[in-house]
Amino acid sequence: MAFFAVIVAAGKGSRSGSPKQFIELCGHSVLWHSVQPFLRNSRIDMVRVVIAADMAETAAACLVGLPKKVLPLSVGGRTRRESVQNGLCGMDDDDWVLVHDAARPCLSDAALTRLLDHASTDTVGGLLACPMVDCLKQTDGSRTQQTLPRDDKWLAQTPQMFRVEPLRKALALAGEGDDEAQAMELAGHAPLLVEGETTNIKITRAEDFILASAILAARE
Ligand code: CTP
Ligand code: MG
Repeated sequence: MAFFAVIVAAGKGSRSGSPKQFIELCGHSVLWHSVQPFLRNSRIDMVRVVIAADMAETAAACLVGLPKKVLPLSVGGRTRRESVQNGLCGMDDDDWVLVHDAARPCLSDAALTRLLDHASTDTVGGLLACPMVDCLKQTDGSRTQQTLPRDDKWLAQTPQMFRVEPLRKALALAGEGDDEAQAMELAGHAPLLVEGETTNIKITRAEDFILASAILAARE
């Protein structure tokens, strides 16, 4: 039984203006930073990076000099879900896979270790997530209509960690969707919530680069 990380890096970054995984932050690309915690963690056997075929050279330049534990695969899909599915090829059914967004360059070693500790002893697996802190509003698009209870609401992050076989089945059943946990939920599983860190942001819009570089700089 092996532990694989699959870093999905085949998106176009339409909301941030360009494929954000290749933008430089604190001396390295976003993708390079996203791979580091998995390289440092001795429990992770292999790190696969799923990239779009037409971005292979750019991705290779980001990963140059990294150990052989990192394997770029030009199998990016049309959707994030397809990229994840393509990244699972050649793994054994009982292997564990940790799916992580290349757009999350600030994952800490401590959060990754916490996920591995808790999810690897769980029958289903789990994901990093943070309890909601802001008020949650039901809206009509421009005005609030009511304030919803938030005690039972968590914001999902990555990595999300599951056994390969149930995840493959769940993704095949689920069709288009958000994350791996959603596919597992639809297949009847209840993924374990493991407390993440609010610094594990996903770069989505241009302003998120400022936040990500501040978080990385504070760690250096
Ligand atoms: N991703 C992927 N393959 C896709 C779409 C997304 O591997 N077909 C990856 C992205 O590269 C990113 C992660 O999934 O690391 C999270 O997706 P998101 O933040 O939505 O990134 P993009 O799809 O690139 O951005 P946008 O939705 O703004 O176009
Ligand atoms: Mg997207």
